[in-house]
Amino acid sequence: MQAWLCENPVGVDALAWKDVTTPLPGDSEVRVRIEAASLNFPDLLIVQNKYQMKPALPFVPGSEYAGTIDAVGAGVDHLTIGQRVACLAGTGGFGTYSVAPAAFCMPLTAGFPAVDAAAFIMTYATSHHALVDRAALAAGETLLVLGAAGGVGTAAVQIGKVLGARVIAAASTDEKCALCRSIGADVTINYTRENLRDAIKAATGGKGPDVIYDPVGGDLAEPAFRSIAWRGRYLVVGFAAGPIPSLPLNLALLKGASVVGVFWGDFRRREPAANAAAMAQLASWYGEGKIKPVIDRTLPMAELKAAYARMGSRGAMGKIVLVN
Ligand SMILES: NC(=O)c1ccc[n+]([C@@H]2O[C@H](COP(=O)([O-])OP(=O)(O)OC[C@H]3O[C@@H](n4cnc5c(N)ncnc54)[C@H](OP(=O)(O)O)[C@@H]3O)[C@@H](O)[C@H]2O)c1
Repeated sequence: MQAWLCENPVGVDALAWKDVTTPLPGDSEVRVRIEAASLNFPDLLIVQNKYQMKPALPFVPGSEYAGTIDAVGAGVDHLTIGQRVACLAGTGGFGTYSVAPAAFCMPLTAGFPAVDAAAFIMTYATSHHALVDRAALAAGETLLVLGAAGGVGTAAVQIGKVLGARVIAAASTDEKCALCRSIGADVTINYTRENLRDAIKAATGGKGPDVIYDPVGGDLAEPAFRSIAWRGRYLVVGFAAGPIPSLPLNLALLKGASVVGVFWGDFRRREPAANAAAMAQLASWYGEGKIKPVIDRTLPMAELKAAYARMGSRGAMGKIVLVN
């Protein structure tokens, strides 16, 4: 088999496409012939040694992928050889085969193509956990999504609409705003051109959003939090802009607002039954056509470095998927 190997986590340039030994699945694991793998922001951080998880070297990056099981380890009774699955295993996806814990694989129906499946779990599970579980977003409430044309952002826009919210999508270019309108956003804000606070005020009649979904951080966090509605919930999802922002806590007091952390990986580990129920709901929404991954582009697996460059330069709209 071949895979992109990270032998030294100093960045994307150091990754090398190599022949490697095809792994055997251990107990409770399956081996998957990978058809498609998607890029998530943590994949960018992990090859620079900037992610909270630091795998032993060398490792194959690629947190999320889809394909067909071709070998099954001892103790796996709910998955079989030949079954199609989507996996979120943290690493291993940027290659032709990978081994994953069976518990981290989601069986796929025939109508779930590999490209969509490879771009599904991380973004939708995170946004579902954030909006349904952590924020209890209710029909009729207003949701503001920052970085709304990104991976988790597009999922949040779609889930917000399924839940009956009015969705304001904020992004850095007009093209990204247009994409957000095409997937259901009611209003858009281009925060490169517009003053974020003024635009939020105008879009909410001065009331502010009930829920703010923030995967970007940086300079957007404080003006967004200052704009939140009474009893608002501010979802801390990620820091794609780099700097981790600080918020003056008096703002939480003045708005009766909550700062709510979102850590889907630990939610899956600590509360597997609740996560399984969320995944089942997401799979049924996908089957009903209510949600669908936005695919920026598909590229051959060999072009992984071009995919990384597009994500790192904020070029991607939705998800980039690598295919074998
Ligand atoms: N908490 C959790 O459980 C969880 C789970 C998954 C992901 N995350 C986090 O969520 C964040 C987004 O992940 P993603 O996979 O959706 O990434 P993505 O597709 O690259 O989207 C990130 C968005 O952030 C904005 N951005 C602003 N400054 C940026 C910069 N300097 N570089 C790159 N993007 C920048 C971009 O939108 P504009 O150009 O419109 O500003 C971009 O669309 C990451 O921080 C990731 O680690 C958290």
